[in-house]
Amino acid sequence: MDRRRFLSALGAVGGGLLVTWQAQAADWLHLGTAPLDTSGLRTDSARVFDLSVSSADPSVTGVVLWTHIHPDAIRFGEALYVQVAQDAAFQNLVLQAQVGPQSITPERDHTVKIDLDGHLPASATGGAYFYRFIYDRTVSRTGRCRTLAASGAALKRLKLGLLTCQDYTNGYYGALAHVAKDDSLDFVLHLGDFIYESAGDPRFQSLPFADRSVVLPSGGIVALDLADYRAIYRRYRSDAQLQAAMERHTFICVPDDHETANDSYWDYARDTLGAPDHPYTTDPKYGNSPALLKRLKLDSQRAWSEYVPARVSFNPLATHPHEALQVYRRFAFGSFLDLFMIENRSYRSPHPCGEKDALQRYLPLGCTQYNSSEQTMLGARQRDWLIAGLTQSRATWKLMGNQTFFGRLALTFLGAQITPINVDAWDGFNAERQAITGALREAKVRNYLVVTGDLHTYMASHIKHHYGDSNPLNFSNHVGAEFMTPAVTSSNLGEMLGAKLDATQRTLLMQGLAAPAVRVNNPHVQYFNSNQQGYSTLEMTDTYAEWVAYAVDKGASDPAVSRKCVARQRKYMSLPWLMAQSTSGY
Ligand SMILES: [Fe+2]
Repeated sequence: MDRRRFLSALGAVGGGLLVTWQAQAADWLHLGTAPLDTSGLRTDSARVFDLSVSSADPSVTGVVLWTHIHPDAIRFGEALYVQVAQDAAFQNLVLQAQVGPQSITPERDHTVKIDLDGHLPASATGGAYFYRFIYDRTVSRTGRCRTLAASGAALKRLKLGLLTCQDYTNGYYGALAHVAKDDSLDFVLHLGDFIYESAGDPRFQSLPFADRSVVLPSGGIVALDLADYRAIYRRYRSDAQLQAAMERHTFICVPDDHETANDSYWDYARDTLGAPDHPYTTDPKYGNSPALLKRLKLDSQRAWSEYVPARVSFNPLATHPHEALQVYRRFAFGSFLDLFMIENRSYRSPHPCGEKDALQRYLPLGCTQYNSSEQTMLGARQRDWLIAGLTQSRATWKLMGNQTFFGRLALTFLGAQITPINVDAWDGFNAERQAITGALREAKVRNYLVVTGDLHTYMASHIKHHYGDSNPLNFSNHVGAEFMTPAVTSSNLGEMLGAKLDATQRTLLMQGLAAPAVRVNNPHVQYFNSNQQGYSTLEMTDTYAEWVAYAVDKGASDPAVSRKCVARQRKYMSLPWLMAQSTSGY
């Protein structure tokens, strides 16, 4: 079939609806569902679709589909086609669409996002579809996507894959190969650090993997501009295992700090990005310029919105990051689960105990500013949205997709807190944390769960309103449970913090972070392990939630690398103060 016939076949299907998806998204044309003769299409998909395909942000009637056209494959005036079908052979088509050539441009680095919300049939339990793109008579690999169950649907089970912290330079994505193979997962949540802004930072990137280097156009080791961020995303998304996982599952993603800069925050005093370790702040050559830092945040937001599919819009005309992109958003899985994907980095105030020294962010001895009511992690608008959503939710489970550890992680003496260990996490924003847990307690919200990334550690922990109160019979002090998924590849806590500290500090910290010490200091923590990398899953049923954590050797380049189950924790609805270590199925 030549291209002319193929195009006329598409044209004959005919018609309709031109949907403009805000400023940055692809315009596309609905082409109906009459089957096309697609014989003779080229299948060397990587030549055109070099970063493959992916789906994200399910709704009841759609998903966001994503692809990237390699610049060398761009043909002037050529449109892109999308097919969604019920079967892998694309015989039972659900939707066909055309994306005009004007939407495949260098302005979006040749990435394409199409929001199908409103265009796929609603289904009581959520629909499962196959999709593919066609460009210049070349067909992409086939992806699979899922939509959400119809509102009010009485689901009894839902299982999510949990990912975070996939430093490409620091290992192989064997964990993602396992996620790709796991057909029991309904959706995958990525909780941030999809990329790392640095490419060989000696503080935590040891670079033992010669074939995993990332080269920045600027020539530096830290992203300085849009071209650098885009180059990083292209490198990450070239990985075969990441592609496989994203082809197989519909993702829901939020960024953490490394999509922009390490330990970043909003510097309200100067109305710009706070990036304490970035060269724009630390290198006198750049003069700690508010304008440069604000531009850096905008560049990172833009690159994220291009390369990480989500139902959000980056406004390229905005000059302020708070007006350019809003990432936090909510998903309803029937009446079974309300998911709140929150964002920890764009609106948070500076670290409570200072920025200059790592010890002001980790182990800030003698500082109590972390209790200040001035500290905000979410910003007032996001906090109010979250509290209202959680307290008014009527879903069986309420889940918060979060970045930094929500619970307390402290050094204590006889139960009294000496110092939090990490005030880059919610421990640095205690008043706001208590505003949330207090509201949950007051509204008698049950079945509240938090999933967390960021710390390159496995943790399962009770969420309490008062961490100083360790009376297990004070049931109203139990607000929920938190599960921290480990890094896919990034250096674990000992490797990460250890490199920043001198020998004495390192010894003190590592003793404090040994699993038994963590649990003595923090009795609400049920499981702690910062020695491995991998991923985890969270299954919710009508009686319990179960978190299962796996270790996968990041040093193994073979995607057939084995996985080992390292933890399995259950939280029963009827026993909210209990977290049960399950021994079955290891
Ligand atoms: Fe990370």
